Amino acid sequence: MIEQLRGLKDRALAQIDEAADLEALTQLNVSILGRKGELTATLRGMGSLSPEERPVVGQVANEVKTAINDAIEARTSALSGAEQQLKFAREAVDVTRPGRAPFTANLHPLTQVVRELLDIFTGLGFDIAEGREVENEYYNFEALNIPADHPARDMQDTFYVAPGTVLRTHTSPVQVRVMEQTTPPVCVVAPGKVYRHDSDVTHSPMFHQVEGLMIDEGITFADLKGVLHSFIHSYYGPQTGIRFRPSFFPFTEPSAEVDIQCVFCKGAGCRVCGRTGWLEILGSGMVDPAVFGCVGYDPEKVQGFAFGLGVERIAMLKYGIDDIRLFFENDLRFLKHFG
Ligand code: PHE
Repeated sequence: MIEQLRGLKDRALAQIDEAADLEALTQLNVSILGRKGELTATLRGMGSLSPEERPVVGQVANEVKTAINDAIEARTSALSGAEQQLKFAREAVDVTRPGRAPFTANLHPLTQVVRELLDIFTGLGFDIAEGREVENEYYNFEALNIPADHPARDMQDTFYVAPGTVLRTHTSPVQVRVMEQTTPPVCVVAPGKVYRHDSDVTHSPMFHQVEGLMIDEGITFADLKGVLHSFIHSYYGPQTGIRFRPSFFPFTEPSAEVDIQCVFCKGAGCRVCGRTGWLEILGSGMVDPAVFGCVGYDPEKVQGFAFGLGVERIAMLKYGIDDIRLFFENDLRFLKHFG
């Protein structure tokens, strides 16, 4: 029996030594020293011993029990120390690591483009003017030589707020308001929102225009060309080809639409430019004498030019965006590209 006890002790000490964690030690404590444990089982044999043998075996049994207890205690404190260390290591904070950058917002791409355009034109000497988005038919149409029966007045295109009152369909009414309040010379650009009943991948019911107007004695079409050349070359790069195409607007005569060499295929012809190599970017022309008549300017004395460009279109061509609706959905994944 003493042999048995010694064997039990050796095995137990070896197991305790190998216990990997506190959980395993608790298990061993139960399976060796517990009420249904190995030691208890072994000691059950004491009943069959002689009275002389009993104290001897009892003493060995106590020694074994104490040894195992001590071993479990020693291992417990060793393991819990190690576990403590591990925990500390896991929870350690490295104060030398760089911080997480906070989310920073950026200006909306259209705001950025408008500001870039205005920077170019103010650099050329233009002042900034503003009109109103809810406009009289007179300023939006009549004063711009668009009579009541003109197709541009079609209810299909124009949002009427009330009879005689519209959401402006272009920024050209600002020309009229500025001329009414200024004696020439006039040199302004007017940015703003405009509205048309139109919606698809290239048209939005609300979009932005920048209008330009320069009036003085002796202003010619050459001045118009010079200003637009400067603008296009500073915005799209000095190599960009430019083309003036005869066109018609009721408030300019002569009128021209201005194309730039396709920024995608460099003029070779592609899907975006419809294989023509050219992209239309704005409308322009010499202010029609009929408009001068409405604002009290003498067309024999002053001449001038005007132009109007669509900001979304300019931005789409600059950044290769193929759906105008992206500007108005406010999806951060899109907007963040312009940070
Ligand atoms: N207002 C015209 C449009 O919206 C553009 C334009 C402005 C044309 C000034 C000529 C002169 O289409």
